[in-house]
Amino acid sequence: MSSARKSSGASIELKTMEEVELMRQAGRIAAQALKAVKEAVRPGVTTDDLDQVAHRFIRGRGAIPTFVGYRGYPKTICTSINEEVVHGIPGSRVLKEGDIISVDVGATWKGFVGDTAETFPVGSISSESQKLVDVTRESLARAIIAAKVGARLGDVSWAVQSYVESQGFSVVRDFVGHGVGRQMHEEPAVPNFGEPGTGLRLSEGLVIAIEPMVNLGSHQVDVQPDGWTVVTSDGKRSAHFEHTVAVLSEGCRILTDPS
Ligand code: MF3
Ligand code: CO
Ligand code: CO
Repeated sequence: MSSARKSSGASIELKTMEEVELMRQAGRIAAQALKAVKEAVRPGVTTDDLDQVAHRFIRGRGAIPTFVGYRGYPKTICTSINEEVVHGIPGSRVLKEGDIISVDVGATWKGFVGDTAETFPVGSISSESQKLVDVTRESLARAIIAAKVGARLGDVSWAVQSYVESQGFSVVRDFVGHGVGRQMHEEPAVPNFGEPGTGLRLSEGLVIAIEPMVNLGSHQVDVQPDGWTVVTSDGKRSAHFEHTVAVLSEGCRILTDPS
């Protein structure tokens, strides 16, 4: 996700049907890489092991790991465990039973980016963590349903916020979803909070990454001294799901689908 403080004003590039098809191919590779990582998640593996799984998968498909070198980022995926919200850097940390881990993957194919994330349980997890994960996944599903031609961006944001808050959790405000295309982060910003009936009117060919980041406790977050890892300020857990989607006349199409 991009920082919510990023300046806006750049123009929004709608995609042609040909471009949407290429983005579907990019999205499929990213989603399949995420699936390969999911199958590798278990107690005892390191986050670097997961990074290698994704790296080999993306390279093996002839695609480019989008994150490597992005603003100096060193790895193929982001791995964010428990109170880590997003942008955790893979390393020697070992996953343990009861953890939850958000894995975020980007793949570039024929010049277009697919960006997707999911939060996985490590072994068996507490019912509280399970609810956090389920509510975050469901908030993304609701946002995707709201992303129709003629709707407003605020309707998408509100779909996330209203559901998450009704379940007693909070949405992160300092980081937001974004347009996707030849760049991973394009206009518009796609916040997970907002007012229904306000903001950009969605038109055919708009491609956005919708990515709710949901906290068990307060919405406040901090960035760790590594300059990347975003953590909750209260130390409570957080979950994150993301799909790259295209707004089309027949409805919203998920581009980061593995099938
Ligand atoms: N994929 C993240 C997002 O959802 C951004 C990752 S930043 C990187 O927008 F540096 F790790 F690439
Ligand atoms: Co994103
Ligand atoms: Co992402």
